[in-house]
Amino acid sequence: MTTHEIIIGNSNNMSSIPNRSIDLIVTSPPYPMIEMWDEMFSLQNPAIKNDLELGNGNAAFLKMHDILNSIWKECDRVLADNGFVCINIGDATRTIGDNFQLYSNHTQIINQFVSMGYSVLPDIHWRKQSNAPNKFMGSGMYPAGAYVTYEHEYILVFRKGRRRIFKGEGKMLRQKSAFFWEERNIWFSDLWEIKGTSQTIISSKADRDRSASFPLEIPFRLVNMYSVQGDTVLDPFAGLGTTNIACMIAKRNSIGVEINSEIAEIALNNMNQNVNDLNKIIDNRIKRHMEFIENLPEDKKVKCYRNSPHGFLVKTKQETAIEIEQLAGITRKDNKYVCQYEKYRPKA
Ligand SMILES: C[S@@+](CC[C@H](N)C(=O)[O-])C[C@H]1O[C@@H](n2cnc3c(N)ncnc32)[C@H](O)[C@@H]1O
Repeated sequence: MTTHEIIIGNSNNMSSIPNRSIDLIVTSPPYPMIEMWDEMFSLQNPAIKNDLELGNGNAAFLKMHDILNSIWKECDRVLADNGFVCINIGDATRTIGDNFQLYSNHTQIINQFVSMGYSVLPDIHWRKQSNAPNKFMGSGMYPAGAYVTYEHEYILVFRKGRRRIFKGEGKMLRQKSAFFWEERNIWFSDLWEIKGTSQTIISSKADRDRSASFPLEIPFRLVNMYSVQGDTVLDPFAGLGTTNIACMIAKRNSIGVEINSEIAEIALNNMNQNVNDLNKIIDNRIKRHMEFIENLPEDKKVKCYRNSPHGFLVKTKQETAIEIEQLAGITRKDNKYVCQYEKYRPKA
């Protein structure tokens, strides 16, 4: 059983979440200096609006990060020792007054986590290439006035303290939560090419645009990479509840915090998923693995191991205890969902 909750409120004060009770944070905050979030930041500190109007871009930028920093400090309070933090963030390019420049959001966030004593781990570039003919900025073909077009965002990864040690039942859960060899090869590469539109089960396009949601694949990978089944994952900027839904599928507990009550309501509706739709995602994952094995040349296939819970072949010994369960039911009580799981049954 897992539970999934949306708390409506400002994540700079998550007093209902006990100290060190969260195993993993997966999130995407509002991006400082991206215009769609100006109002949200200015509401939390009205001096930001003045700075933008007076053409003080860097001053506004730093004040927006002060707001995020108070939330990162609160995240530090609730995160367990050895827990991970994964933050999807894009940098901003913008002209304020008459000055064009880059506002490097990922640098500010890395500096904040370093100052809180975290270990910075290798990050991921999420590449979102555009084919728009007008994507290049500045002076065209004339030198010294044209600017590189940004087509990637970052997924920053931090760890609190030292490596997590798994003992006893924890060790078994870790083996059960392992990922497939071929998934490892893609998920742990530093370049992810996932289309912003590759998400079909979450809300309407208008809602997705309004809340700048990420594709389900992003939190799904991160949750599988940095937590084990039964862990608790927090998204302090929950938006449409994408991280919560990824956790339902991956058998982790989840808590989302969202300041905007309308968006929180949409998240809660999104989380009311049809069990069969979520099970299709689980089924596709297993089918992709079986196809991968099927396509191996005979001389590689004979070297494979057999996975005990599912009976299919796997590339390495570490994958022999992987157990992926499917959802048996989802029930709602107030702002919380409870998911039940059962043994995976292959679909026709
Ligand atoms: C980039 S969106 C997150 C989208 C989310 N990853 C998804 O897939 O839907 C940022 C969200 O953070 C919320 N937010 C902004 N400031 C907040 C704060 N201080 N506390 C909690 N939520 C906040 C915004 O309302 C917005 O929904």
